[in-house]
Amino acid sequence: MNCPQCGATIHNDVLFCPECGARIRSSGQPASATPPLQVLQSRYELRRRLGSGGMGAVYLATDRRLTTAQWAVKEMSDTSITSPLERQQAQEAFRQEAELLARLNHPYLPRVTDHFEENGRNYLVMEFVPGENLRDYANRVGLPRPLHEVLRWTAQICEVLAYLHAQQPPIIFRDLKPTNVMITPDGTIKLVDFGIARLFKPGKERDTQAFGTPGYSAPEQYGRGQTDPRSDVYSLGVLIHHLLTGHDPSTTPFRLPPVNQLNPSVPPYIAAAIARATDNDPAKRFASVIELQQALFGSSNLVNRQASPPPVAQAARVEAMAAASAVRMASTGMATASLWIGIISAVLMVIALGMVGLDPIFDSDDILAGLGFLLAMVAALFAFISGILSLIALVSPNTAQTVHGRRDAAIGFAASAGAYLLCCVLGLVIAQLGG
Ligand SMILES: Nc1ncnc2c1ncn2[C@@H]1O[C@H](COP(=O)(O)OP(=O)(O)O)[C@@H](O)[C@H]1O
Ligand SMILES: [Mg+2]
Repeated sequence: MNCPQCGATIHNDVLFCPECGARIRSSGQPASATPPLQVLQSRYELRRRLGSGGMGAVYLATDRRLTTAQWAVKEMSDTSITSPLERQQAQEAFRQEAELLARLNHPYLPRVTDHFEENGRNYLVMEFVPGENLRDYANRVGLPRPLHEVLRWTAQICEVLAYLHAQQPPIIFRDLKPTNVMITPDGTIKLVDFGIARLFKPGKERDTQAFGTPGYSAPEQYGRGQTDPRSDVYSLGVLIHHLLTGHDPSTTPFRLPPVNQLNPSVPPYIAAAIARATDNDPAKRFASVIELQQALFGSSNLVNRQASPPPVAQAARVEAMAAASAVRMASTGMATASLWIGIISAVLMVIALGMVGLDPIFDSDDILAGLGFLLAMVAALFAFISGILSLIALVSPNTAQTVHGRRDAAIGFAASAGAYLLCCVLGLVIAQLGG
């Protein structure tokens, strides 16, 4: 059967459409056949809660006017608001979020289409992003994630952050964390939740409010100084660290263990970039997301600060850089060593076999055979070393991330095995000559 909301092919027994998240009853009827949780503006029918966090709940909504459309409607929570001043501040933050998002246009941000107040609550209507947030994804598939996957998301997050930071005045996202990053079914990301994104006004000495999430927020977000793009660099560094190691940063705020201590397969240049991005001192971090991007993907000027929405071709280029970066090393040292030592051992063994075989022809009083035997011993030692190295290289995750690592290690192993085979032949020849 097909999902009545998005048309995707789905199994008869699913409760929710895996593509668009619409509720499908076990009878196969769409959720829209059931009464909505609430109707807003006589138009938006709230169907189910998509999630909730610090600022409010987000619902999946169908549209009475555009019957095929579905939206994510964000409602501002008032449960934690105690004073009228706080309520006013929260409403202002929400209104800012709406206006901020409405004028942005980027493939990695949901489009905002409407905002309104109803029954004393504020609502934001935005593009529904299918998929799941990074926290749910990570809980489902487990951490750490493979380097190429993390780098693909990182390239996209760098791009959208660079776009936000290039706005005049710059927009600092300020709350980059797994629940605010959506992973769509086609593998692209979208940043959600501008609840605390604010316009950065240069010259303002320090922010008056502490924002953010323990572990993910930079130290300066705790009221010690003005936040600027480097605060987002920090949170992105923490996010990459979390995804590559599985270490929950909220357990050790501002004290992240070195990436390589937890995941030795991460290439040193990535580990060094993460360490620099997450330095507690903003002055020691990358000055911009573009600098971090260059450290990770080795390209200059990938994102033009002046550019408004970056073209999709550029996004594809950044993606390609991410993929290339994940496999930028042709092979590991161990795989290469096993390859060459294995080849040398096989060649030496062939020469040794030749010397022993030629000894009776040249009648050298066993001198040639003796030298051949000694050479065979050296070759056997080399074959042993190559065999060990190739086995270690074959099981090492580092090798899997290189282009030719596995191939080199396999050739190394085959060469050392071939050398041992020749060694057996040589033993037979010597036995026959002795006989
Ligand atoms: N546009 C959207 N499309 C689909 N799901 C969304 C959308 N926006 C938010 N969500 C879901 O709702 C959750 C909470 O939304 P968010 O905007 O982060 O609210 P909060 O301010 O409460 O943290 C997100 O983690 C995500 O799972
Ligand atoms: Mg959130």
